[in-house]
Amino acid sequence: MPRSGARRVLTGYYTAAIVLIVGWRGSSAVGLKLTGPALADLTIPIQTARLTLRAFTADDVDAVHEYQSLPEVARYQYWQPRSRDEVAVEVAKWAEPDGPPEAPVSLVFAVTLKDGGALIGDTVLLFRDWEARQGEIGFSFNPAYAGQGYATEAAAALLRIGFEHFNLHRMFGRCDARNERSWRLMQRLGMRREAHFREHALFKGEWDEEFYYAMLSREWADLVRDEA
Ligand SMILES: CC(C)(COP(=O)(O)OP(=O)(O)OC[C@H]1O[C@@H](n2cnc3c(N)ncnc32)[C@H](O)[C@@H]1OP(=O)(O)O)[C@@H](O)C(=O)NCCC(=O)NCCS
Repeated sequence: MPRSGARRVLTGYYTAAIVLIVGWRGSSAVGLKLTGPALADLTIPIQTARLTLRAFTADDVDAVHEYQSLPEVARYQYWQPRSRDEVAVEVAKWAEPDGPPEAPVSLVFAVTLKDGGALIGDTVLLFRDWEARQGEIGFSFNPAYAGQGYATEAAAALLRIGFEHFNLHRMFGRCDARNERSWRLMQRLGMRREAHFREHALFKGEWDEEFYYAMLSREWADLVRDEA
């Protein structure tokens, strides 16, 4: 995307207002080649201009079920529309730490509106390779709240945490090529389309077309510097 587009996302809507209350106290990892601080140093919830990204609790099952039960939300995910019981299992997993604090496997956040507190989606930061400092982002939102930039705002917060708190080198996201709302979101963030896998797998009975989008830490630094 044109640089000006990414800058608009970071500057106009998000970065100036993203207030990450994270602390940097250096790595507390023992016996691990971590270059970023440990999970224990990350202060959750995370605040952005309009959102609070917080940990999941068992009370969130109904709000998540409201959108994960929808065919349109499940369409390009590796799961089918979920029953309330299935959502309860997922939410219970998300509420627990995934991996050791010094090297988490993933961090899943409930995305809630500051105004009123409604849970509008979930977003995840996956640590794919600690040594090579590779991270992945994912997001899934209730369509009742679509088209207002909330998912982009939450995903921008994940990029900031990944690069600035965990010192990741590269962050990527992937989606079905037909999932235009997903890849447009990643373009809005200033991520580059790195790959288009053509008919490389079967997905829900059809050939899968998959896009990869990514950003390097120096590209993130450029975006942040340009906006200053
Ligand atoms: C992917 C997904 C999160 C994208 O949702 P979205 O509503 O398009 O994304 P956002 O919340 O960031 O909203 C962006 C839109 O709001 C608009 N917008 C309105 N007000 C805005 C504001 N104040 N700030 C920023 N954008 C604003 C943007 O222009 C954009 O509109 P456009 O797409 O018409 O250009 C959503 O479609 C989803 O959850 N899908 C189902 C799950 C899924 O497939 N997840 C991805 C798996 S790979």
